[in-house]
Amino acid sequence: MNVLLKELQAYHHEVAIKITRIKELLRKMKHESDAADDCKLLFKMLEALHGDAERHHHENEELIRLALLTTEAPIHQRVKDIERDHQAFGRIAGQLKTLEDTTLETRVIADTVDDFIKKYFDHMDSEENIFFPLADKWLSDDQWQEITRQWH
Ligand SMILES: [Fe+2]
Repeated sequence: MNVLLKELQAYHHEVAIKITRIKELLRKMKHESDAADDCKLLFKMLEALHGDAERHHHENEELIRLALLTTEAPIHQRVKDIERDHQAFGRIAGQLKTLEDTTLETRVIADTVDDFIKKYFDHMDSEENIFFPLADKWLSDDQWQEITRQWH
């Protein structure tokens, strides 16, 4: 597999580990009456999913996706959805941040974050099983060179 795709996949692996920890914390929070400290920790963990690394990861994937659209590759609907996902995650990240300043119940926060995590896993799944293999098969060496030049 192309070295850039491997890099994206390695990032997914790191994120999956972080998300699994967040899920464990959420499960714990749902069974506690006072979860203020856990809530603080939760938002700290979520921050790791909204930083520069995350933004660059999505920008890099967009470089590949746009190159793929110029090829004859059959574009699966789930590949088309990836752009929409990337925009949505940016929006959701902002919404999650505002949750921190509200006094919503723990359960509401936990459900919102749970929903985000589910979408994120589905998104990574589409990328790894449909998008990356397509890019690996269809992009030319010249295209990969151009992508490398713009890579973050
Ligand atoms: Fe990704």
